[in-house]
Formats: sequence, structure tokens, C-alpha cells
Amino acid sequence: MIRNVYLLIMTLHFLYHYSSCQQPVSRDVSRRMLSQMMETNRELAEIKHLLKQQIKEIIFLKNTLAECNFCGIQSEGQQQPITVYPLGRCVPNPCFPGVLCSETAVGFHCGACPSGFTGNGSHCVDIDECRAKPCYPRVRCINTSPGFQCEPCPSGYTGPRIQGVGEIFARTHRQICIDINECEDGDNGGCDPNSDCINIPGTFQCGPCKPGYIRDQNLRCRLERSCPNGASNPCHERAECHVGRNNEIACVCAIGWAGNGHRCAKDTDIDGFPDVTLECPERNCRKDNCLTVPNSGQEDADGDGAGDACDDDADGDGVPNLEDNCVLIQNLDQRNTDQDNFGDLCDNCRLTVNNNQQDIDGDGKGDACDQDMDGDGIRNSLDNCEQVPNQDQLDHDSDGVGNACDSCPNISNADQLDDDDDLVGDSCDTNTDSDGDGHQDTRDNCPTVINSAQLDTDGDGVGDECDDDDDNDGIPDMVSPGPDNCRLVANPTQDDLDGDGIGDACEGDFDDDKVIDIIDVCPENAQVALTDFRAYQTVILDPEGDAQIDPNWVVLNQGMEIVQTMNSDPGLAVGYTAFNGVDFEGTFHVNTMTDDDYAGFIFGYQDSSSFYVVMWKQTEQTYWQANPFRAVADPGIQLKAVKSQTGPGEHLRNALWHTGDTSNQVKLLWKDPRNAGWKDNTSYRWFLQHRPQVGYIRVRLYEGPVIVADSGTIIDTTMRGGRLGVFCFSQENIIWANLRYRCNDTIPEDFHPAQLQ
Ligand SMILES: *[C@@H]1O[C@H](CO)[C@@H](O)[C@H](O)[C@H]1NC(C)=O
Ligand SMILES: *[C@@H]1O[C@H](CO)[C@@H](O)[C@H](O)[C@H]1NC(C)=O
Ligand SMILES: *[C@@H]1O[C@H](CO)[C@@H](O)[C@H](O)[C@H]1NC(C)=O
Repeated sequence: MIRNVYLLIMTLHFLYHYSSCQQPVSRDVSRRMLSQMMETNRELAEIKHLLKQQIKEIIFLKNTLAECNFCGIQSEGQQQPITVYPLGRCVPNPCFPGVLCSETAVGFHCGACPSGFTGNGSHCVDIDECRAKPCYPRVRCINTSPGFQCEPCPSGYTGPRIQGVGEIFARTHRQICIDINECEDGDNGGCDPNSDCINIPGTFQCGPCKPGYIRDQNLRCRLERSCPNGASNPCHERAECHVGRNNEIACVCAIGWAGNGHRCAKDTDIDGFPDVTLECPERNCRKDNCLTVPNSGQEDADGDGAGDACDDDADGDGVPNLEDNCVLIQNLDQRNTDQDNFGDLCDNCRLTVNNNQQDIDGDGKGDACDQDMDGDGIRNSLDNCEQVPNQDQLDHDSDGVGNACDSCPNISNADQLDDDDDLVGDSCDTNTDSDGDGHQDTRDNCPTVINSAQLDTDGDGVGDECDDDDDNDGIPDMVSPGPDNCRLVANPTQDDLDGDGIGDACEGDFDDDKVIDIIDVCPENAQVALTDFRAYQTVILDPEGDAQIDPNWVVLNQGMEIVQTMNSDPGLAVGYTAFNGVDFEGTFHVNTMTDDDYAGFIFGYQDSSSFYVVMWKQTEQTYWQANPFRAVADPGIQLKAVKSQTGPGEHLRNALWHTGDTSNQVKLLWKDPRNAGWKDNTSYRWFLQHRPQVGYIRVRLYEGPVIVADSGTIIDTTMRGGRLGVFCFSQENIIWANLRYRCNDTIPEDFHPAQLQ
């Protein structure tokens, strides 16, 4: 029987194996079939041999049992009774599969159930070892027949896989899972190396940054005091770490603080000089000689330690400033031959009335009495440009005005009229400006690319912004065989000794203007290196109105400070440098308790009808001239886009005064919702970002170190760049100190292109 069954199984196996084969039976396969058959035959022979052996054993057992006298006694005690059947009852085996059957005198006897089962031998039932809970908590126990197995340890744990048979085994071989310490994987568990890794059973957590580290915007832990490039921060705790274009680090005291950046102290008037002396050698470590009035040049005529700005008798001659006709030079006698506002000792024209004291060539002789005021060697009466040195005297259009100072060099315009104050004579002013950068197409060196700065490094008539080879050295700026490793300095050989990708010709001074990049306010513009308003254009915004007098500008501190002394009509002092993207900051201070009117600054100046102004008034007030329309000023800082159809005059004057939109004149872009006016005798710092390429504008205002107003992102494209300056309207004694501008075309992170309409 067994033999037959086995044969059957083998046959079935064989059939299954080969009938499922989809391939045509090849010769190879038939050979394999043959060898399989031979194998089968061999196995069958073995089984035959085994069966013969077993039959012999059974016969032996049969005989033994037959002779056994004590077999009946074995039924005593706890043993299961032995059922005895007639001999030969064990074939086929009536017991549970795998249980030994033994024939007895009276029948047969089944042995014990196989391990993992319980029962009497003829009936056995699988034991559920899982009831002994051999597995680790939360790990599934699978009861098999027979035996059990535990699933692997939970994630975060490690331990052996357990499987076995029988309750005793299950009790004595419990699964043990050990928590894995992920933090000790050599990678801090994947947490930032400078943060804690906290191992908890089954998992782990990244904890806070280690002491001395803080989490940055990228959720990394960086040294609490580190520079934006990750280097450790050498700056004072009140200083910012700036990373320059060559990765050099510069420390700058925060707004409201002053010093060399490694040491900073409070700076009440925000003029760049600290209230106390600092232990460092730089000039700006010295104590401010005038604590509450900004004087970024620290001028001190009489050297008495009190700066002129807060010294009632600046020159110490015993005559108070207000009465002194030479405020900065001792002249007790006050002699004044020409009877102008300046005593002989400080008058650059003693015999000629010249209250402006202008001296173009700086030779100490005022223009009013200088035979050659521009110092080019040609007497004024013969000079076709009295105020601009031009020894060549070229005059292309023969209008009597030399090219060097001709507002229309190619069109005869002896009158030089320039109605809109854009420095282009009316005769040749088309006011057609396709790209809106303030330069009319006929003069724009990139007519369709926004480049208010008009920088043309190689002077080839094509502005850098639209020139593929800015320095004309034959190496294209960007494409092969470039990019040029010195875009603004001609270096056809591209030498780069240290192999850092920056050519030797411009290493550390990108524009080769001899002002190193760290201190260059425009490292990519050889024509601009320092903030300087010494040369400026005065623009009177209400030329006909005679409500008040024109502003009087005084420039101090090598062009980084402007003071306006008169209670005047609205006016601007505008620097000559035009900018693309720019950051512009300065300290604003009204140094008087009298009056409550407008002061501010301008940017994006293109002509007297087109500019942005940030203006601030102290109190609410209706303008006293109700013509041509009533204008009401709110206190609170305002940002306005001026695009006037009329240009300077009553309309623009009232529109400027008015807080709100005035059609065809002024658009109010933002107003500080606090509606708070400036305070007397208080210093404020403004910080403006203008990116005309995208129209981004943002103004922030600080009172001391505290930010008090922030326009947020404002998008306006009325003026695509222009010049910078200061603004006043009916307010005297305004100081704009510690002025700083920087070329900057980097688009700030808070700009989103979706904001563009
Ligand atoms: C004036 O004419 C000369 C030559 O005709 C030209 O090179 C120059 O660019 C012109 N200047 C202006 C401002 O149009
Ligand atoms: C200006 O303000 C400072 C402090 O803010 C004060 O010490 C000083 O006396 C004020 N000056 C005047 C003229 O009010
Ligand atoms: C330029 O502007 C960007 C964006 O506003 C700013 O992050 C960066 O510090 C500025 N660069 C300089 C040199 O001020």
C-alpha cells in the first residue's frame, strides 16, 4: 500500500512538473525526463528495502509482545491504559499521523502524540503555544500546526526570530527584543550634528540645538553667533556680520549702535559715533563729540571737544553762532567789508556779495570773484563752459555752449533751457523713454534694457547691461570662451594665479577703481565708490510760488551729511549718480522745536516731475494756499510716486502736501498706519531698498535701535531707477546724516514674482 501510494505521488509529481512546462519538449528535456525516471526507480528500490526491514521488525515485536507477561501490569499507575488489539492491527497505522503504533496481544497501542500536540495518541490536537505569550509585546504570535513562531521584533528593536514547538519550549524561549539606540549610529541618528539626539524605546527624537547653537531658517543648528556663511562670528553682539563678495567678513554695528563692529556702544543720535569711548583704534570708536545732534563728520572748529553741531559758539571767539558772521573762524571784530552774510575772515569773496560762497574749482576764491571759476585756464568771459573744465572748448553745434556743458550738444540751444530738470535741454528732450529708466531712447545706451546707471565700462557706447563684453577684452562676459573672470577689467589672458576663478586683474577690486570691494559702495561700477552728495542739483518744486524762500543746503562730512537751514518752499537736493538697484540709508533729525512740517528723501529721480519721495510730517495740517485745490497733510511717514503732468508749480506743490492720491500728479503708495509724526530733536534711521528691475520698494524706519515703521513689499514700476536725494518742504534745520548708498541688484527674498501685475 505505502509503496503504491508513494509511486502514485511520484508519478503525480512527475506529471505536474512536466505538464506545466509550456515549452515544447526538446531533446534536452527528454534527457532530463529519463534521468528523473531513473532517479525515481532508485528511490523506489530504497523504499522496498526499508519496507522489508520494517516487516522484519514488526514480526520481531509481535513475537516479543506475545511472550510478554507484564504487559497487562503496565496499565497501572497514571499511564494511559493500553488498548490491546489482535496482532497485525497496526497496518495501516490507526494512530494519529506520526504516532508510533504497536500491536499488542489484544490489538494495538498508540504512542504519545507528537510534540506540539496533545491527545491520546489516536486523537491528537495542536497545542496553541501562543497562549503562553512567548512573543515580545506587540509582536504577533503565529500558532502553526505544530508549533508557533513570533514575527520579527518591532521596528526600532532588534532580537532573534523565535520559532519552536511545544508549550515548554514556548515558556522557556521567550522572544527578547532590545531597543536600538539610533543615536549611536555614528550619524547622530540623522539629527543635526549640533543638536541633541534623544533615544526613546523603539524610536528617537531630534532634540533642541546644543547650547551655543540656534536653529536657522533651514532648520539646521548653526553657531548662535555665526555669520551667514556659517563662519564663526567675530562681531559684537550688537553687530551684524556681513559676508563680502570674496567671502570676507565685515562687522557692522546694528542700527542705533556704533563702533568698529567688534566693539559697539549705544549711539543715541545714530550718526555713527558711540555715546562712550570704546577701546579700539578706529575713528568711529571715539566718543561722539555731540551726543544728541547727528554730526557724522565730528567737525569741531575750535577743538574744544564739543562738536560744532552742538557748540553754541563753534569757533570759540565769544560771539554766539547765531550772531557770528564767521561761525567756524574766530573773528571777534566781525569785520565784513562787502556787507554780505560772511565776515571778511571767512568770506571767499571779501569785496563781492556772495551769500552762496560757491567755489567750483575749490581754489578758495569764490566763483563770484574768480576770473576762471572752473579753473581750466580759460577766463570766464571767453570760456564756453564757465562752470565745467573744458580746455578743448569743443562746441559741436556751435551754439556758444561747449559740448562739456551743453544740455543738447548736437542741437543749437544757446538758452540751455531744461524745464523738467533732467539735465537734457528742452530742444533735444524727447521724453520718449521705452524702458522707463529715466534716459530717453535717443540717449539711452541700452534703450530697451533698464539701466538707469548707464554704466558703460569700456566706453563703446553700449551700456554694460546690454553689452556682451563689458570690458572689450575679447572674452565674452558669460558665454564661451568666457565667462570672463574679470568682467569689468580687460584681461585677455585671463590669468588667475590662485585658481579661484577670479582673474588676477580684478582680485579684491572687481571694477579696478582702486577702492577695494569691501569698502566700495558699488563694487561693480568703477564710477561710484563712496557715498558723496557734495555735487548736487537743486530742484525747486514751486518756482512761481513765493510762499516761502528756497531751501539752503549745506553739505558736510565729505558729502555724507546734508543740512537744510531754511523754512523754505519745497525743494530737492539731488545727487548726480543714477542707480539701478540701490540700498539707501541715512539718519534723519529735525534739530529744532519750531515748526512741524515735511522732510524726507527721494529716490528714482528722473526729472522734476518723476521721482519717488518718502516724506514725513509732524502734525496734521491743511495747506494755507487752497489754490489750486485744498491739500491736507496727515502726520505719519508716506511713500509717494510723483509723476506730474504739470511739473513744478502750484499743482505739484499741493499734491505733495496732500496725503493721498492726486490724479496726474502723485500716487500715495504707502502710509504708516500708526499715523505718528516725527518727534523734535530725535534721530531716525531710514533704510530703503529699491530694485527697479522688478519694481520692488521697501522702506523701514528705526527710532534708535527699534524699528517703528515698515512698508513691507511694495511693487511700483513708475520709475525704473534714477538718482537719490533729500527733500524738504517748509521745515528748517533738518539734518540728513551718515548717508550711505550701495549699489544692489539682488532681489530680496520677500519679493514674489506673482506680485507683478
Ligand atoms: C552728437 O553727435 C556725435 C557725432 O555726430 C555723436 O557721436 C554723439 O553721440 C551725439 N551726442 C548726443 C548726445 O546725441
Ligand atoms: C534733545 O534730546 C536729548 C535727548 O534726547 C536731550 O538731552 C537734549 O536736551 C535735547 N535738546 C533739546 C534742545 O531739547
Ligand atoms: C543686497 O540686497 C540683498 C537683498 O535685499 C541683501 O541680502 C544683501 O545683504 C544686500 N547686499 C549688500 C552688500 O548690502
